[in-house]
Amino acid sequence: MTVAELRDHQLARLKATLRHAYDHVELYRRKFDAAGVAPEDCRTLADLARFPFTIKADLRDTYPYGMFAVPMSEVRRIHASSGTTGRPTVVGYTEHDLSVWADLVARSIRAAGGRRGHRVHIAYGYGLFTGGLGAHDGAERAGCTVIPASGGMTARQVQLIQDLRPEIIMVTPSYLLTLLDEFDRQGVDPRSTSLRIGILGAEPWTEEMRREIEGRTGIHAVDIYGLSEVMGPGVAQECVETKDGLHIWEDHFYPEVVDPLTDQVQAEGESGELVFTSLGKEALPVIRYRTRDLTRLLPGTARPAFRRMEKVTGRSDDMIILRGVNLFPTQIEEILLRTPGVAPHFQLRLTRRDRLDRMAVRVEARPGATAEQRAAAAAGIARGVKDGVGVTVEVEVVEPYELERSVGKIRRIVDLREQ
Ligand code: DLL
Repeated sequence: MTVAELRDHQLARLKATLRHAYDHVELYRRKFDAAGVAPEDCRTLADLARFPFTIKADLRDTYPYGMFAVPMSEVRRIHASSGTTGRPTVVGYTEHDLSVWADLVARSIRAAGGRRGHRVHIAYGYGLFTGGLGAHDGAERAGCTVIPASGGMTARQVQLIQDLRPEIIMVTPSYLLTLLDEFDRQGVDPRSTSLRIGILGAEPWTEEMRREIEGRTGIHAVDIYGLSEVMGPGVAQECVETKDGLHIWEDHFYPEVVDPLTDQVQAEGESGELVFTSLGKEALPVIRYRTRDLTRLLPGTARPAFRRMEKVTGRSDDMIILRGVNLFPTQIEEILLRTPGVAPHFQLRLTRRDRLDRMAVRVEARPGATAEQRAAAAAGIARGVKDGVGVTVEVEVVEPYELERSVGKIRRIVDLREQ
């Protein structure tokens, strides 16, 4: 598709989606009416900015099925995202939605370098989480052989990888690190396995983490992005030939980046909150859904018609405000991974003393690091955070394997301030 063809396609799909949402979902009808807009007011893609946003609370308020736009008899699958508080968010798919999802994950696997006949070890959790089953259907659609390992039973996963010889692993970057520790424990060099490609997502990770993972494993580590409300994994994918951010599959999802404070649509290249409008979903159309993920849009490269999103810096919910300074766990990750003597396992612990918020960076020493190396690392990290982020933190270099390991999405922040 040329860009002009893509824009025509998007506009036609957008008009149909607005109409579908308005006609079949009471919440959209109420919101559009309150904002004084109707589906036919959308004549150009820019008109989308006149329509109201959708937020996670809308899904919670209409829990479980209130935003479904088709009769339940047409819904073939339910997934849910756990969320940190309260009710989960329930999402649904028609047969057609599931087929499109499989196509887009297959497209993502191909962009990552996967080919028909490759074996794919899937270590995303199976169940209500979209990671496992979403990756599964897409890998089958791509003509791959699926090994549905799911998350957990780490020692056995390492055995399976050696015995079944997959070329591709789909896993969160933090669980991949857990698997790599297990390789070390079993005395197996991860570079000696059949793995060639890691399709890593479901949580933020940095360029420094890519270097760490690629260096330890010899695989190509590429980023996959998605969220349940919009579909699941496969909304955007990094191409293996460029590794320069994720191409958004724009024929199915129209992206905007908005200023989180003013709600204004940002120009290409400006940072802000990513917002998606689905362009063909039947069961759960989403109009201007606010992801809370922070990134920016960039022109396409390896897939020229599709814009890219930069690797996600973090979710606005995970932003730490420490004595007036905003910071994200990914900024700490970058600094830690440039520091010799410490491992990529860390946790940020927030406490409050004398009415002042404090943050302790707890990071593991690399096995074999001497006391001097650990002390130098702690000082270097504290200096790096002070210079790079502009805030003073305490740094505690703990023993190797002391911190809790991830089996899925890792929790970086431990907030003890309310206690
Ligand atoms: O995490 C879907 C997924 C599964 C994506 C497997 C990729 C791989 P949810 O559980 O609904 O869905 O969580 C969605 O996870 O809004 C982001 O905050 C975060 N996230 C997902 N992918 C990435 C990524 C799945 N590549 C939420 N980089 C999203 C950074 C990501 N954050």
